[in-house]
Amino acid sequence: MSAEIIDGKAFAAKVRGQVAEHVARIKADHGITPGLAVVLVGEDPASQVYVRSKGKQTVEVGMNSYEHKLDADTSESDLLALIEKLNDDPAVHGILVQLPLPDHIDEDLVINSIDPAKDVDGFHISNVGLLGTGQKSMVPCTPLGCLMMLRDHHGSLSGMDAVVIGRSNIVGKPMAQLLLGDSCTVTIAHSRTKDLPDVVRRADIVVAAVGRAQMVPGAWIKPGATVIDVGINRIDKPEGGTRLVGDVDYESCAAVASAITPVPGGVGPMTIACLLANTLTATCRAHG
Ligand code: GUN
Repeated sequence: MSAEIIDGKAFAAKVRGQVAEHVARIKADHGITPGLAVVLVGEDPASQVYVRSKGKQTVEVGMNSYEHKLDADTSESDLLALIEKLNDDPAVHGILVQLPLPDHIDEDLVINSIDPAKDVDGFHISNVGLLGTGQKSMVPCTPLGCLMMLRDHHGSLSGMDAVVIGRSNIVGKPMAQLLLGDSCTVTIAHSRTKDLPDVVRRADIVVAAVGRAQMVPGAWIKPGATVIDVGINRIDKPEGGTRLVGDVDYESCAAVASAITPVPGGVGPMTIACLLANTLTATCRAHG
């Protein structure tokens, strides 16, 4: 068997197109332009790339982008003061503080200082609780993107066995909540899971979100399963230079699975598309 490749790049372009259409309509009908504020503290190169890409795509769908780049030694209280200002600014509908933050800043405190209605990352404790209890919330972008691709591919996910590898607050836990919300039987596997290959082998849906290059081999995958690879890892090429790989071993998994997301071009582009969709949602909710 050779798996169908789930094209996250094309799907993300479609989502962005839908967001852009909706933005144009609320601009024309109500004179409202959605605004997304992105806060970056420090000079982490990967974060700088993400923030640049977010800003560019925000503008491309017709939204206003407000970038706040702060020095690495910015105090926690100055960052909290900026967030308070953004919370109070009616032109800002979504706020994203790029993680990780420098060590001297309490990440939980900062995230929980964002107005939950503007928390387009879905990381605020109120949104986490709302998602966990199946109520209307802001949903974290990467798991939301994965869910959209799974729904698009399968239609209903009801009754499927899903294994999420990784228990992070950003991906693993919210992913499990979303799959449960779609009536999957969900297992969260992690570094202490006993006999991980056997656990993964039970899954109709495997979501790999551990941040370890190519750690899931095809031998762990049930024939015909769907594999969603959240990992983005840079590895050395034998001939020199580097390349991006996911958390699954693509070649061997693609030989067994019925569908798989590639890296790059799978989950990655969906994350920013969902951020824009969340910003639109926040705008619509703010204006009733
Ligand atoms: N750093 C890595 N992923 C994310 C994300 O989804 N949101 C934010 N704010 N920071 C990140």
